[in-house]
Amino acid sequence: MEVRVFRNAEEIGQYASKIICDYVNANPSCVLGLATGASPVPTYSAMIAEYEAGRVSFKNVRTFNLDEYCDLPKEHKNSYYSFMVENLFSKTDINMDNVGFLDGNASEESESKRYAQAIKAAGGIDIQILGIGRNGHIAFNEPSDEFTDEAWKVKLTDSTIEANSIYFDDIPMPRYAMTMGICSIMRAKKIILIATGDSKAQAVRDMINGEVTPHCPASVLQRHGDALILLDEAAASLL
Ligand code: GLP
Repeated sequence: MEVRVFRNAEEIGQYASKIICDYVNANPSCVLGLATGASPVPTYSAMIAEYEAGRVSFKNVRTFNLDEYCDLPKEHKNSYYSFMVENLFSKTDINMDNVGFLDGNASEESESKRYAQAIKAAGGIDIQILGIGRNGHIAFNEPSDEFTDEAWKVKLTDSTIEANSIYFDDIPMPRYAMTMGICSIMRAKKIILIATGDSKAQAVRDMINGEVTPHCPASVLQRHGDALILLDEAAASLL
């Protein structure tokens, strides 16, 4: 694991965006694994700025998102699909035919197989962006007794529901989500995890300095050969 600490979220966004845009310029039809949540937004903003400045094109890039809520229409404003349209897709030349998303309303088994096959057919994920939950979750892989494999349907924990409920002002937050599994995430060639703020400090410490255990799913990244952890000072405060 390589750990870097920055003064603020914007600096992290600039740094992560440069890695991604340089990679896209060298490999225009590469495969990006994308995350939702507040953590990657400054990275997406910096990628949009590079696109607007004519320094990068995403038109041949393929993308796969980590997770999606169940029992929520894809077009609902709080779906992760809508989040990505708003924060990245609609503001760049990403071709929507090249965008991969889990369908939170499909049957778990067939959707899991479909997603694994689609990622494989695309050649695997080159760079996977990740955030981290306050309880150490990655994507929606909550703490549990074993590391998960391919995409699956998860019952969200109270901690995650509390953290994400603030985004749901019209309907109750869904209690289930479809998420890529830990093994599928670990297959990415490079992983960039972004964490900012005090509320992530304990999870960051457990991820980096704790034992590798599914009770802190992010700790599995200690076993990845190319995991880059980008933190602000608050998220790094317990290291
Ligand atoms: C959600 C997402 C995760 C994300 C996490 C942290 O639970 N499923 O992929 O990493 O929230 O979100 P934030 O970056 O908003 O703190």
